[in-house]
Amino acid sequence: MRKPVIAGNWKLHKTVAESIQLVEALNREAAGVSDIEIVVAPVYTALQNVAEVLAESNIAVAGQNCYPVNSGAFTGEVSPALLKDIGCRYCIVGHSERRQLFGETDAFINAKIKALISEGLGVIFCIGETLEERESDQMYEVLTRQIREGLKDIPADAMQQVVIAYEPVWAIGTGKTATNQQAAEAHAFIRGLLQGFYNEELAGQTRILYGGSVKPDNVDGLMAQEDIDGTLVGGASLKAEDFVRIINFKRG
Ligand code: PGA
Repeated sequence: MRKPVIAGNWKLHKTVAESIQLVEALNREAAGVSDIEIVVAPVYTALQNVAEVLAESNIAVAGQNCYPVNSGAFTGEVSPALLKDIGCRYCIVGHSERRQLFGETDAFINAKIKALISEGLGVIFCIGETLEERESDQMYEVLTRQIREGLKDIPADAMQQVVIAYEPVWAIGTGKTATNQQAAEAHAFIRGLLQGFYNEELAGQTRILYGGSVKPDNVDGLMAQEDIDGTLVGGASLKAEDFVRIINFKRG
C-alpha cells in the first residue's frame, strides 16, 4: 500500500508571521491524521520557524529548492545539509517554475536529487509537459526524458526517498486541472517507466502525486484514480481551510 502524500508548495508567498499562523491552523485541524503524509514547503526565510512549530507534529517540512553541494563559494544558495539542519524532511526538486524561469536542466536536477538522497532527505521530484509538448504529441517523450535523466544513476534502494509529482505545466496556477482521465493516463505511463527503468516492485511502491490547480472541489475525483497517490498543491495550500479539505479528500 502506498501511503498518500498531500504536499503544499507555498512558492513565494507569506511572511514568517503569516507562515506560522497557517501551520498553527493546519496543526490544529490535521493533528489526528495518520494515514496521510502531510508536507508543507514554505519560503526559505520561514522554514526554521515553521519547522519549530511543527517539530512534534505529523506535518513534515520541505524546502522548495536546494543547491547540490553542501558548502562552498555558492553565493545565495542553500544546501541539503542546511535544510536538514533546521528540520526539513523533504525538498521539492525540478518544479516547472525552476525549469522554465531559472533554466534548470535534467542533469542539474539529477545532481540535486543525489545530494538530497545522500543527506537522507526525501525528494519531491516534479516532472510534466508543457501545453505545446502535449499538443505536438511529445508528452510521452518529455516524461520519459525527465524520468530517465532526472533519476540517472539513482539506485533502486534510494528510490524509497523519492516521491514523483506529475505536474502538467499547463495546469499549474491556471485553474485548468487535467481531467481525471488525463491525469490517470500520465500516472500509469510514469509507473510503467519506473517498471522499465527499475522493476515492477519498485514501480508499485513509488508514490506519484498529481499537481496543477488541485482544489477542494477536484481533489476527490483525482484521488479516486488508482495511480494517483497524492497531490502537490500550490494556490490552494495557502488557505488552511482549503488545504485541510484537500488533506481530508474523500475516496468516493
Ligand atoms: P497550483 O500549483 O496548485 O497553484 O496550480 C501547483 C504547483 O506548482 O505545484
